[in-house]
Amino acid sequence: MNFELLTTTENSRARAGVLSTDHGVIETPIFMPVGTAGSVKGIHTRDIKEDIKAQIILGNTYHLYLRPGIDIIEKAGGLHKFNGWDGPILTDSGGFQVFSLGDIRKLSEEGAKFQSHIDGSYHMFTPENVMDIQRTIGADIIMAFDECAPGDADYTYAKKSLELTQRWLERCFIQFNKTQAKYGYEQSLFPIVQGNTYADLRKLAVAHVKNFDANGYAIGGLSVGESEEVMYEMTEVATADLPENKPRYLMGVGTPVNILESIDRGIDMFDCVMPTRNGRNGMLFTSEGVINIRNKKWENDHSPIDENGTSFVDQYSKAYLRHLVISNEMLGAQIASQHNLAFYLWLVKTAREKILNGEFLGWKKEMVVKLKQRL
Ligand code: GUN
Repeated sequence: MNFELLTTTENSRARAGVLSTDHGVIETPIFMPVGTAGSVKGIHTRDIKEDIKAQIILGNTYHLYLRPGIDIIEKAGGLHKFNGWDGPILTDSGGFQVFSLGDIRKLSEEGAKFQSHIDGSYHMFTPENVMDIQRTIGADIIMAFDECAPGDADYTYAKKSLELTQRWLERCFIQFNKTQAKYGYEQSLFPIVQGNTYADLRKLAVAHVKNFDANGYAIGGLSVGESEEVMYEMTEVATADLPENKPRYLMGVGTPVNILESIDRGIDMFDCVMPTRNGRNGMLFTSEGVINIRNKKWENDHSPIDENGTSFVDQYSKAYLRHLVISNEMLGAQIASQHNLAFYLWLVKTAREKILNGEFLGWKKEMVVKLKQRL
C-alpha cells in the first residue's frame, strides 16, 4: 500500500492524496460506506461503484465472525469474492462492536469475552484471533483490536484503557507479522489512537502508535457522547503529531459538517452509518440542508428529491419518496440510503477538488452554513 500526499492547504491541515491498494486507488479525503454484515444495507455493489462512486467500503469483524462465520467466508475465497465487491475493503476489528453490541462482556488482559447479540453464545476476542479472523475475511485494510472506552470515562479509567489498548496493539503487530495474507494481495494493519477526551493521553497514544511504522493510522473513541468541540480538539491533537505521509482515518464520524470540519483538521478517511441509518428513517442530507422526508410539507411536492444530486435516485419526487417511507416500503429506505451515500461521496470529492485548487477554506465556510439548514 502506498500513500501519496498531493497537496496541503494554507491556514488549514486539509490535504488531498492518493492511497493505492491491490484492489484499486482511493482518492482522499474519502468517505467509506459501511457494509456491516458484508453488504451496504439495501444497495447493490453495481450502484455502490457506478452511481454512488464509492472507492472503498467497510465490513465488520464482529458481525461477519458471528454470521455467516469465518469458515464460510474463507470457503468463498474472502469477503471480496463472497459479496462481489472487487474494490478495496476495510474491516473494523470488533473492538467497538463488542462494547456497543455484545450483551455481556468481560475485559481482561487476554481480551474481551462477550455474548453474541444473535443467539447469546459465548465468544472471546483477543488481539491474536482478531488478526487471524481479519486475515481470513481478507480486507485490504484491517484494524487493531482496541478498547473504545465510553465518552464520559474518568481520567483513571481512560488511562488504564489506553494502556490496555497499547499492549493489545503490540500483540496485534506480533501476530500480524507472524501471519500472511491468504488471497494473494496485500493487507495493511492500522493502529487506533485512543485516549478519550484527555489531550495528554491522546498525545501519548499518538507517540506510541508511531513506533509501529504502519501504512496508516486511525483515531477512535470519538463521537461517543462528547461535545463536537471536544471531538474536534482531540482530532487536532492527534493530527498535529501523526506522520504527514500516512493516511489518517477518523472512525465513526459523522455528519456532513463533522466531515468538512475534520478534513480541515487533517483527516483523510471517514466512515459512518449515518447516511444509511438516518436515510432509512427518512432523513436526507443535501447541499442545501437536511430534509425530513416524513414531514407533511412534502406530501404534495412533486419536485426532485435533490435537484443538484448526482445519483439517479435523485430524480424521484419528494412526494413519492415520502409516500414510500411513510408506508414502510423497502424501496423508500433504498432510495434514501442511496441518495445520502451519493451525497457524502459528492461532498468529499468536492472537498478534494477545492483542496487541490486552493479554495477549500472559503468553500467549507459556505457549505457548513448550508448544511446546517433544515429544509
Ligand atoms: N468505530 C468508531 N470508533 C471506534 C473505535 O474507537 N474503535 C474501533 N475499533 N472502531 C470504532
